[in-house]
Amino acid sequence: MEKLVSLCKRRGFLFQSGEIYGGLNGFWDYGPLGVELKRNIKDAWWRDMVTGHDDLTAPAGAPTSYEMTGLDCTIIMHPQIWKCSGHYDLFHDMMQTCRQCKRLLRSDHVWDMMRDSDWVKSLGTACGFELSDEQVEIDRNKLVKWAKSKGKRAAPGLALVRDPEAPWLGELGATIATKDLLSSMATENAAETGLQTPCPDCGGDLTEPREFNLMFETYVGAIRDEKNKTFLRPETAQGIFVNFKNVLDSSRIKIPFGVAQIGKSFRNEVTPRNFTFRSREFEQMEIEFFCHPESSRHWYEYWRDRRMKWYEGLGLSSERLQLREHPADELSHYSRGTSDIEYAFPFLAEGHFGELEGIAHRGDFDLRSHMEGKLDEKSNPLQLQLGPDGQPKWRGSGKDLSYFDADAFEGDKDGLGVKSFKQYVEGRKEDADPGKPYQYIPHVIEPSAGADRAALAFLCEGYTEDEQPDDKGKMQTRTVMRLHPRIAPIKCAVFPLVKKDGMPEVAKEIYRALKPHFNVFYDEKGAVGRRYRRQDETGTPFCITVDGQTLQDQTVTVRDRDSLEQIRVKVDDCVAEITGRMG
Ligand code: GAP
Repeated sequence: MEKLVSLCKRRGFLFQSGEIYGGLNGFWDYGPLGVELKRNIKDAWWRDMVTGHDDLTAPAGAPTSYEMTGLDCTIIMHPQIWKCSGHYDLFHDMMQTCRQCKRLLRSDHVWDMMRDSDWVKSLGTACGFELSDEQVEIDRNKLVKWAKSKGKRAAPGLALVRDPEAPWLGELGATIATKDLLSSMATENAAETGLQTPCPDCGGDLTEPREFNLMFETYVGAIRDEKNKTFLRPETAQGIFVNFKNVLDSSRIKIPFGVAQIGKSFRNEVTPRNFTFRSREFEQMEIEFFCHPESSRHWYEYWRDRRMKWYEGLGLSSERLQLREHPADELSHYSRGTSDIEYAFPFLAEGHFGELEGIAHRGDFDLRSHMEGKLDEKSNPLQLQLGPDGQPKWRGSGKDLSYFDADAFEGDKDGLGVKSFKQYVEGRKEDADPGKPYQYIPHVIEPSAGADRAALAFLCEGYTEDEQPDDKGKMQTRTVMRLHPRIAPIKCAVFPLVKKDGMPEVAKEIYRALKPHFNVFYDEKGAVGRRYRRQDETGTPFCITVDGQTLQDQTVTVRDRDSLEQIRVKVDDCVAEITGRMG
């Protein structure tokens, strides 16, 4: 991972935001190559999910054909949206503070971070154990020796370092689980406080977990009071739900259909970490797919499989990808089924996977919340949450967000013995067919992806080292970024072999012919081998070289980054050749 992070900075994929001022934790800037990579990922997603989607044909695995459209909503929205959606009351992480160094930590990350903690590694090396669930034998002398020497610098907050003669040390049994040992070492007085959780940074004791809302607050207008307070959106999804009726009324779209949106989201993550994986500002690519309740399970399965294939199609290997269905106790209160597409990011422990995208069956939760008001997460079936005064805790818009299926109704109305929907509604209470309601609150299937996480996964997957001969035939380690041509920042580099004999002129002509079609790079500096290496590192899939033979027969070499195969192609065929190879 260190090698990848360093390459990303060196070659201009990613920089820490505000680096010249020491950086701002959890914020990342995309450099000249990174911006192209991320844009290509977003473009591929939009093209594959929205503009390239065939509205007329049922794709493999889908119950029927469906329509797709898009939106681009604001980042700052009406504050009531977040109250009704539940984010205002419930979008929390549990957080702990170190009493010694004052660092804030997300409770569910603490033990993962302990695995990477420098002081835990130092202690483990000195005393011969690793952090695990296994029982270890205690050698008190080694523990105390470490606390008086290396521990002083590595873990100044640790209770045992602050008092290496701690009397409780003698109370520990002969063997103990490493977690309990580390917690004991962080505890001054177990009888008073119980075992304390240690800080992964300094070893200090952590406070009890408390709730921390992840939404960034801001104020609209000049007066900074509660009335004007609103939030930077923590997801793009809500903009789609609150525009559901606008989309229906302004287009001829019919259920089933999906609305896509790509945009920035903001979460004041307690412990942003693992490069861009958990950032405080990031981009999401979300689809809210509206369908009939009866077919919603089928649509959920369709989207789960469809999204998984998308990542595979762009080059993520199936061994590092997995689709994980959430067990019932992990589901959000509104969810009727959720699956995560997960990737084995290299910063995770062996065999661990991190979320790339979530696909959730959200039932009618979202549209109902914006109609009626915040639903009570403890109710089942979900009911409007009331405040102490018996009124809705957070009042919804009151707008009717149900869907009237005019086509189905028209087809059935003679059989129902009515002339109009109004007549049907008036008389339907007793004799309506419950299996075929013509007006219903659609169910929502939500494939929700992160553009930054996708970029990170493609970078992790692409980073490879192999051995190749240099210009003098000596074997050298080559770093290659094996990015799929569709998402590679530069599609093709054009080189004259040498900067003379008319070669640059021909190379520049080829560059100009390719440029209207692709992002192409021209380079005439240095040995050609070094130029190839630079392009390999940036993920450029193809290089065209003009050499002595070009001047005789108007052919050039086209080199493939991955196979290293070189073939000769006519100068006039370069555009067609690269187009054909783009995949
Ligand atoms: N509307 C549903 C929703 O927002 P989520 O699982 O919280 O669901 C969806 O987020 C995706 O957004 C995640 O799978 C991930 O790719 C991305 N994401 C979420 N939090 C992120 C963060 N702090 N940094 C980078 N990406 C994040």
